[in-house]
Amino acid sequence: MSGVAVVTGGTRGIGAAISKALMAEGYKVAAIYHGNDEAASSFQGATGAMTFKCDVADHESCMSTIAAIEKDAGEINVLVNNAGITRDGVLHKMSPENWHTVIETNLTSCFNMCRAIVPAMRDRNYGRIINISSVNGQKGQFGQVNYAAAKAGIIGFTKALAMENAAKGITVNTICPGYIETDMTAAMKQEVLDSIIRQIPMTRMGQPDEIAAVVTFLASQKAGFITGATISANGGQYMS
Ligand code: CAA
Repeated sequence: MSGVAVVTGGTRGIGAAISKALMAEGYKVAAIYHGNDEAASSFQGATGAMTFKCDVADHESCMSTIAAIEKDAGEINVLVNNAGITRDGVLHKMSPENWHTVIETNLTSCFNMCRAIVPAMRDRNYGRIINISSVNGQKGQFGQVNYAAAKAGIIGFTKALAMENAAKGITVNTICPGYIETDMTAAMKQEVLDSIIRQIPMTRMGQPDEIAAVVTFLASQKAGFITGATISANGGQYMS
């Protein structure tokens, strides 16, 4: 089964690796991005992926973008909800804006994209939905009440949606990456990052390709009996 795969946050970091890996499997990839036009344009030039600008936190933006993708490219068989941001800080100093922005971009986005795509998947009795959470949604993280809440929310969202759609041939799973080498972790203070790497049994960060490999497996026919699962890829940092 190939067809169209939609990857949010699909032109940079883990999302870019996922987009490339799905293209290598024969999917037409629609990579969704929000702010960085330059990165999206160079990603499109380098890979041939289609790119679509969309604010995943905005319901109407998601509905119209998905309609445009279906019109341009065809039926969507795979959705990867990968887009995510951080606004780190301790709760007693966190602004309501930094709470809401993270919840809406990281969690409400999953509702928005699934709401736009799931009805057609149900009509066709087939779909693969893969939601990217985080080790910090499983274990919590100092300075990330907003991010940890959103990423933990994704795990519950996945299980409920998996139940609702299992009889319709749609699988819904969560991947929880650990600390992966991307712009997001590069923005952290080096001493904070070093202290986290010391807590990882494999004593290294992960690579985006190591998450993309899990996505391509979950997207494949071979993964047809896996739904509602939470799969960790974190170098042993947290074993649940
Ligand atoms: N546990 C306990 N105490 C801690 C702590 C920890 N992990 N980290 C900091 N503290 C303490 C400090 O010792 C300090 O205490 P004192 O005031 O008594 O000295 C106090 O908390 C304040 O610490 P900072 O000076 O670091 O405070 P800050 O306001 O400058 O920074 C912070 C706060 C931005 C949250 C910073 O601690 C930080 O960056 N933490 C890491 C957050 C993180 O891991 N983000 C991951 C981003 S990547 C990602 O999210 C991808 C993914 O999915 C994995």
